[in-house]
Amino acid sequence: MMDMFCVEGGHSLRGTVSVDGSKNASLPIMAATLAIDGEVILEQVPQLQDVATMQQLLQSIGAAVEQHTDGTICVDARDVRSSAAPYELVRQMRASVCVLGPLLARFGTARVSLPGGCNIGHRPIDLHLRGLAALGADIRLEAGYIVAEGSKLRGADIDLCGPHGPTVTGTCNILIAATLAKGRTIIRAAAKEPEVEDFARFLNAAGAKIFGAGTSIVEIDGVAQLHDVRHTVIPDRIEATTLALAAAITHGDVTILNAPTTHMTYVLNAFNLIGIPIEATHDTLRIRAASIQRPARLTAEPYPGLPTDCQAQFMALLSTIAGKSLITDTVFPERFMHAAELVRMGANIRIQGNSAIIHGVTRLSAAPVMASDLRASAALVLAALAAEGRSEIRRVYHLDRGYHAFEQKLNQLGAKIQRTNDGPQNVVPRPHLDSLQPEKQRISYRHTEPGDHM
Ligand code: EPZ
Repeated sequence: MMDMFCVEGGHSLRGTVSVDGSKNASLPIMAATLAIDGEVILEQVPQLQDVATMQQLLQSIGAAVEQHTDGTICVDARDVRSSAAPYELVRQMRASVCVLGPLLARFGTARVSLPGGCNIGHRPIDLHLRGLAALGADIRLEAGYIVAEGSKLRGADIDLCGPHGPTVTGTCNILIAATLAKGRTIIRAAAKEPEVEDFARFLNAAGAKIFGAGTSIVEIDGVAQLHDVRHTVIPDRIEATTLALAAAITHGDVTILNAPTTHMTYVLNAFNLIGIPIEATHDTLRIRAASIQRPARLTAEPYPGLPTDCQAQFMALLSTIAGKSLITDTVFPERFMHAAELVRMGANIRIQGNSAIIHGVTRLSAAPVMASDLRASAALVLAALAAEGRSEIRRVYHLDRGYHAFEQKLNQLGAKIQRTNDGPQNVVPRPHLDSLQPEKQRISYRHTEPGDHM
């Protein structure tokens, strides 16, 4: 049985709602607990499916993990003996690759399944492997697993820039591996996302020596070990943006608490561009109905640019605004699976390369639609809130991966969303992506000196 949402559209959202902790800060931090020789207490960790999957992964290799209902997670990985992350867990969540760096750093060896296919586009991990090889690890691919070996990692000068800019989880993997390497590491083209900065803040609180996190050049002085640490995860800027867009698309009046507004500059710029009044203090947002909303040209880019994780949600809003809008995604150029489902609800969207051309319509119309990935499912909920009539959104398990109690939060603002089960008759086999098996091949990565042609 798969859960689905029945959404009765046309209700303006009003009231106050609070943002949870960041999924994309929590996952790499939880993975890094594998390299900490002590007790870790994490606060404000969101209760999400992906967090549960990461907890299961840590426990499967011997870590003690306790999750409390107040968002506190306690991890003690001192009894971990295995350095292998199995395919059946990694395939459920790409962020499992974040255990690669910690396991290698702690055990001198790591065996992590290559992540499976992904509906938002091509997601290689070559930059992760380039960075680990630069630190002296021997990297090879065996039967769909990455095998990394290197008991004496040493500092290096590493350029982590890829064809679509920096890598968020790749930067985290190299940060933790360099932290326990000998000597100094410089990471160039490091990801600047707030989640990476929070990751470094967490490691420094555990005894690491990381300087410049949140900028593109980060320096790390290796240390012998990391100790007990207590850390509060930053709020989730993507959830905050999604809730703000729910207020905007329903022409409501919503106050959002615990919002990391300093991490949302380009998001606030986009709201102003569209003509939606949004008031921000250091930790709250207030979005009020705008009489006229304007079409806009938006580009999803690496931080501090507009987050690619909000691209689908902005597309839903722009679909309801008269005039021609354009959204370009420079991070995941193929991240448009949600467009076809929005078209089923009456949106006028055409995909051209890594852009979506949107001609806004007066009103979307309710329809049965299917979620394809986490942020696409959020976009479909937003569209259904604005649509005339009652929409059905299938496969909302995608939504549960990254939003806690999403329908409850929206319903307490006046939405009318009912979670039911889809029933066996509607179950359609998962797309072929699930059956993709990484081909069996041996490839090796070698350390190259800066200036070598990779
Ligand atoms: C993180 O994924 C986030 N996930 C994603 O959020 C987010 O969309 C993405 O960063 C970009 O901001 C987590 O933090 C758990 P990347 P990540 O490595 O680290 C290419 C969500 O909805 N690339 O920064 O996997 C890659 O193909 C999720 O919460 C390489 O070429 O993304 C992409 O085009 C979805 N080689 C670009 O870089 C590599 O080795 C950015 O990817 C790695 C990445």
